[in-house]
Amino acid sequence: MASRKPLIAGNWKMFKTCPEAETTSRQLVERVGDVSSVDIMIAPPFTALAVVSKAIEGSSMELGAQNLYWEKEGAFTGEVSAPMIASAGCRYVIIGHSERRQFFGETDAGVNKKIQAAFEASLIPVVCVGETEPERDSGKTFSVLDKQIQEGLKDLNLNTSNPPVIAYEPVWAIGTGKTAQPEQAQEAHAYIRKLISQGFGDELASAIRILYGGSVKPGNIAELMALPDIDGALVGGASLKPETFSEIIHYRT
Ligand code: 13P
Repeated sequence: MASRKPLIAGNWKMFKTCPEAETTSRQLVERVGDVSSVDIMIAPPFTALAVVSKAIEGSSMELGAQNLYWEKEGAFTGEVSAPMIASAGCRYVIIGHSERRQFFGETDAGVNKKIQAAFEASLIPVVCVGETEPERDSGKTFSVLDKQIQEGLKDLNLNTSNPPVIAYEPVWAIGTGKTAQPEQAQEAHAYIRKLISQGFGDELASAIRILYGGSVKPGNIAELMALPDIDGALVGGASLKPETFSEIIHYRT
């Protein structure tokens, strides 16, 4: 099995003004220190990308954006393109988060175009998938993942030199304090890896990092990371505080 370097990613969602983002990221740089055993990403709102980029310069942390629009430029008021995000210092971009699907009508077809645009700008897409509570309760978890993965990654030319990152975020575990049971998370991650293998081959399936997201905290990260198909975490609420996010990053110690 390929060894996959863990990725601990913080999604700040719609939190933090520019001064708040600057203070938080400076404190994080201090608390996190030099880390080489895991990759670290923080994704502030667009408005704070510039200040955070400057604050984390030369640190172990890398920058991500929370969304993009697939056109490079044009009359699309309010949107931000992949080349713009890359030029702001981002290495990663979150795509298809459940909050965008739920509140802003994002579809798997749109997710597909966004992933393509991210690759064209040499960004690493962090593609979010996951079922809602009613979908899980009615036994549809796997069929939801089938559709999100198959349509989201449709016709993409993926390779092992620059694989996307997948984030499994069961919607019922986001911001609720309910984390998936380790066996539920492992089952979903293994299923996603199998889908990648079927669609793109074993080599990509063993290289791709699959993150877990949904109420990840200092108290549950080690247990999640011990599972064979969990390669990192996409952290919401607990990434807003330098104390908790740095504890999650240092889960091994
Ligand atoms: P919480 O960690 O706040 O549950 O959020 C998870 C998430 O949506 C990360 O993208």
